[in-house]
Amino acid sequence: MAGMQRNGVINNWKQAWMQPDTKQLPAAMSEKKQAVHLLLHAARDEKRHVWLGVFFLMIAAALEAVGPFLGKAFIDRYLLPHQMDMGMVIALLAAYVLTGWGATWLRYLQLTRLAGVAMRSVRRLREQVYGHVLRLPMAFFDKAITGQLVSRVTNDTESVKNLYVQVLFVMLDSSIVVLGALTAMALLEWRLMLIVLMLIPAVIIIVWFYQRWSAPAVSKARQLRSEINAQVAESINGMSTLQASNAERRFGERFAKTNQLHYAARLDELRANAWLLRPALDLMNSLLLVVVIFTFSQRSFSGVEIGVLYAFVSYIARVVEPLIQITLQFGQIQQAVVSAARVNKLLNEHQHVQASSDARITEGHLTLDKVNFGYDPARPVLHDFSLDIPAGSFYGIVGHTGSGKSTLLSLLLRFYTPQSGRMEVDGQPLASITDAHFREKVGLVPQEPFLLAANARENIAMGRDISEADIIAAAKAAHVHDFILQLENGYDTPLGEGGARLSTGQKQLLAIARALAGKPRILFLDEATSHIDSETEQVVQTALTELRGKVSIIAIAHRLSTIRDADSIIVLNHGKLAEQGNHQELMQVNQGIYQRLYLLQTLEE
Ligand SMILES: Nc1ncnc2c1ncn2[C@@H]1O[C@H](COP(=O)(O)OP(=O)(O)OP(=O)(O)O)[C@@H](O)[C@H]1O
Ligand SMILES: [Mg+2]
Repeated sequence: MAGMQRNGVINNWKQAWMQPDTKQLPAAMSEKKQAVHLLLHAARDEKRHVWLGVFFLMIAAALEAVGPFLGKAFIDRYLLPHQMDMGMVIALLAAYVLTGWGATWLRYLQLTRLAGVAMRSVRRLREQVYGHVLRLPMAFFDKAITGQLVSRVTNDTESVKNLYVQVLFVMLDSSIVVLGALTAMALLEWRLMLIVLMLIPAVIIIVWFYQRWSAPAVSKARQLRSEINAQVAESINGMSTLQASNAERRFGERFAKTNQLHYAARLDELRANAWLLRPALDLMNSLLLVVVIFTFSQRSFSGVEIGVLYAFVSYIARVVEPLIQITLQFGQIQQAVVSAARVNKLLNEHQHVQASSDARITEGHLTLDKVNFGYDPARPVLHDFSLDIPAGSFYGIVGHTGSGKSTLLSLLLRFYTPQSGRMEVDGQPLASITDAHFREKVGLVPQEPFLLAANARENIAMGRDISEADIIAAAKAAHVHDFILQLENGYDTPLGEGGARLSTGQKQLLAIARALAGKPRILFLDEATSHIDSETEQVVQTALTELRGKVSIIAIAHRLSTIRDADSIIVLNHGKLAEQGNHQELMQVNQGIYQRLYLLQTLEE
């Protein structure tokens, strides 16, 4: 029966943790489609602004297209026949100035509107990405590289925004202007317009060549930039080790090498720009003018007035410039698509899906049954591990380095999912508890204490709703209160990044205070007192003893005095439960691991 139940529970586990996020895009979708999808998703609340922007941009383009018409009227009706009707001329000139100015003003207003859309969209996207990262399982972070991840959340979303700005502003605006100018030309002289229309396929061909040339360089440059970020972040994190091992020069050289590669990739990209885009398109512009003027000189067009020639020359400039703008954006789009694809890949990382049951941790009774787990499933760390921790008891875990103690805690903390086996709390699957409730009821003092770059109060409260009195009570219990008061601003003193201003032992005490302040039902301590002197440890020990019966405490300790009084001590050996019992019982085991460890430690002291 146990076996059947176990299987059922495992399936629930997998469902609860590995269910794909339904919002994600199918991986088979092309990068471009993914980018577009991502953008539409981020801008979904801004449809009204986009439509209004497009509408007014069209009006602006129409106003702009009126200018050459007015010029033509001036030339054909008044200038050439030498019939200067002052009133009409002034009216024409005034209309020319007003339509031009009106178009510019409208365009400026709409571009600001669309910039707002882009900025808000990138804000939403960035929040979505960061929010996603915050909920990724720990297994993801074992492989993630900090700098690259940072780059994903900041740079890549920024360049997705560029896609917005480029697509929405320049491409849209330019296309509208081109359409407006083409319409005006068709009204004036459709045969000439057809000649100008040939420009468009020519531009498409140029852009196609450009993309083939620049795409690899663009994607390489992006990748190298995130590598640069990663290197800087890594060296800053490990600065003391880096300097102590005299590695400044080597790191400098490594950085210079990456930087050089980045430079080369950017240069390649720039060359594609310099060779293809601008010069090729400017050449098109000149050729087109020549063709139009030449066509004009032909007999079949002799009926065309000079005013039309003037208007056409004006319009050609207005078509070519936006077309150049459109093509120039393709480089940006290329970059943005690469970025969007990477952001999307990150968003596709499986989050553990929130359990939504109303299961509650009431007592803190933990059960593990035949749990198997390895970070890499091929190399198991815990084998067929079974354990029962009654509510309110104090359990100690000892074992050699690498025997799997922290791993066991990570499983109990739900940072990882076991490959098989049953894990329960108060008779309910561990995975069925909602995250919020689970984290509220379970406290952890990790092996490497992590402090925020904030003051002591914030570090204890960690954004939870904890009263000042409870914070101070927790600090007193962890024996860190007096120390905090000695700081120049007491609880308000900033502790530096990662608590740089504190000793390792002080950081541990603060981490203990943080865990106690949450008033958990279950408290995990991973080597929580390893850097604390024996006297202080005694005080902390007393504080923990007071929790006995109320809180289930599971403490890993190398220093065996910490867990001497535990209700039960578990000895781990190569991922298996080797011995279990209280101190007296384990000391009776002949040739036992615990006995040997204990005797060695007492000998040292
Ligand atoms: N994130 C990880 N990814 C892959 N393997 C890991 C990871 N963390 C630990 N391991 C491996 O799992 C095994 C157990 O590690 P664990 O951290 O549980 O040991 P431990 O008993 O806590 O040791 P210590 O006393 O040194 O803290 C080790 O062989 C270790 O190399
Ligand atoms: Mg450990």
